[in-house]
Amino acid sequence: MCIRDSSKTPEELRESLRIARISRNARVAFVPTMGALHEGHLALVREGRKLVGDDGTVVASIFVNPTQFGPNEDFARYPRDLDGDQTKLASAGCDLLFAPEARVMYPEGERTRVRVDGLTSGLCGPFRPGHFEGVATVVAKLFSIVGEAYAIFGKKDYQQLAVLRRLATDLFFPVNVVGHPIVREKGGLAMSSRNAYLSPEERERALALSRGLRAAYAAFSGGERRAGTLVDLVQKEVEAAADTIDYVAATDADSLVAFDPEASVGDRALLAIACRVGKTRLLDNVVLGEDPMTSLSGSHS
Ligand code: PAF
Repeated sequence: MCIRDSSKTPEELRESLRIARISRNARVAFVPTMGALHEGHLALVREGRKLVGDDGTVVASIFVNPTQFGPNEDFARYPRDLDGDQTKLASAGCDLLFAPEARVMYPEGERTRVRVDGLTSGLCGPFRPGHFEGVATVVAKLFSIVGEAYAIFGKKDYQQLAVLRRLATDLFFPVNVVGHPIVREKGGLAMSSRNAYLSPEERERALALSRGLRAAYAAFSGGERRAGTLVDLVQKEVEAAADTIDYVAATDADSLVAFDPEASVGDRALLAIACRVGKTRLLDNVVLGEDPMTSLSGSHS
């Protein structure tokens, strides 16, 4: 099986989509990625297929976006495997691929950046200055090229999903932003392209993230509502395993504003972690009161 068409420029992709919208049904599902695809990404492609039907069009993009990496981050060594990714996309039923080069997405003379306020001031925001501006900028470009579509993002990057929902609404993009549940490896580790950096020993330690979330989830299910207590349950597991912790936080699941430790989280709240195991930065989260407990255990081997 192979991808029906691969585009390298906005003009080529727009033309492929124009033809697809008239020769198939008009629905389009879009899965933006930075490549190094794993089962989590392929689940987004399959979700896209469900949303548009067999004769709709599923398009994925692969672009390692330089503007969302800080100067000391892993842009240069970010895993890249375009050939392998194309095979995986095709086997998951993706129709079109958009794989532009940096000079196409950021041509000489470009000056525009997109900034989403508020939602980016907490959680990963302070630890990755400029990151969400880079994400919002590239995704605004991609949304503008793709046009009317469902756009599917994984919930592992929960803050990114919240930012991109806001972006689509605020800029009137005809895009329906869809969040897909976290896909986990056996044992519970949330799938991420960066897991490729982990040694076997680090991978074992990284299981502490989902273990901590499971402990807090169990307490929440038993009636615990104090933000500080729920955070401490996660923190205890993560502290024992991680090399450094950026945050363990309980926040409102929509505004992403952190709860005071003494406050009650109510019946729905985000519990989120960012930490490093070895040099690898890992994220994980659960929405208490919304995600099922099974969302925290790995089913994939
Ligand atoms: O989640 C990602 O892989 C990236 O942040 C995205 C949304 C493709 C933008 O570069």
